[in-house]
Amino acid sequence: MEAKITLLPGDGIGPEVINEARKVLTAVAHRHRHTFRFAEKLMGGCAIDAIGDPLPEETLDACLQSDAVLLGAVGGPKWSDPTAKVRPEQGLLKLRKSLGVFANIRPVKLFPALADASPLRPERVQNVDIVFVRELTGGIYFGQPQGKEMVDGRRSGHDTMRYNEEEIRRVLQIGVDLARRRRGKVTSVDKANVLASSRVWREVAREVAAENRDIEFEDVLVDAMAMYLVNRPGDFDVVVTGNMFGDILSDEASMISGSLGMLPSAALGAGGPGLYEPIHGSAPDIAGQGIANPLATILSAAMLLRSSLGLEEEAQVVETAVAHILAAGHRTADLARSGEKSVGTTEMGGLVVAALS
Ligand code: IPM
Ligand code: MG
Repeated sequence: MEAKITLLPGDGIGPEVINEARKVLTAVAHRHRHTFRFAEKLMGGCAIDAIGDPLPEETLDACLQSDAVLLGAVGGPKWSDPTAKVRPEQGLLKLRKSLGVFANIRPVKLFPALADASPLRPERVQNVDIVFVRELTGGIYFGQPQGKEMVDGRRSGHDTMRYNEEEIRRVLQIGVDLARRRRGKVTSVDKANVLASSRVWREVAREVAAENRDIEFEDVLVDAMAMYLVNRPGDFDVVVTGNMFGDILSDEASMISGSLGMLPSAALGAGGPGLYEPIHGSAPDIAGQGIANPLATILSAAMLLRSSLGLEEEAQVVETAVAHILAAGHRTADLARSGEKSVGTTEMGGLVVAALS
């Protein structure tokens, strides 16, 4: 097959990890006789520096015309002044909105070889296999009005958390469809005891549950969920939640897997190009040192092969290769125990490529 893939390396460790994912995709294309055409575009802080816009038109056009988009990471201290007019993250939000990718799939699974890298006890994390479905184009990230202003002579700021029933229904439906192919359970997370938007969320979630009686369904408040992820993470299958709760809970859940450097994500919508990104950030503290873990980006590339290109076998080949090199004991610095030898970013990418066959 032929596919157009737009690469957005972004900032910090983004370019380093994207390089490795590109290497892996190129090797997959070669082995399975596909043609992948890559276009690298500016996005995030680097695009602000070059053009003054975190998502230049040319970048957005390239994304819209491709089969899939693979993003590294955006942001960093250089652009994080709270008084700045433009911020890298605005580019990411605009990209998600423009691609219409309302459902962010974030699987949290423990590679058996990494059981002792998790801060939780091994017996607690053994059976963890959760898929978060985070609503990605609504909620408090996008609600209007939003702004900073003077109120009664004091600096103030406000955001709006708003959801309508259609936005809630479609993301819950994705969760239900996913659960049906897994263990058949959906947990909907909200804050319905306080927030009006969450009460609408819960009403609609219960309607969706009633329409899908083969699915086991529960509502959980977000604060309780934060606790359950630590004391009984093995009880969850598919977790569906709003934009901000999903952002927070998925970072928390990533710790189960041992490192934020392991978790991939796919953002999908109504049939356009999917957006794939590791859930970690740009890690400016280690950028440029060649020690970042590229596995979350490589696993995001596997999700891209599966969900945007329909290449299930190739996706599995990549995932198996990652499991294989972890089982063989290779670790980047974030995964290594103290005193244990670690490999660098390019070496790790090379090991995955070598393990493909
Ligand atoms: C994520 C990130 C982003 C988000 C930031 C970089 C805007 O934290 O993808 O989880 O909050 O969505
Ligand atoms: Mg986040």
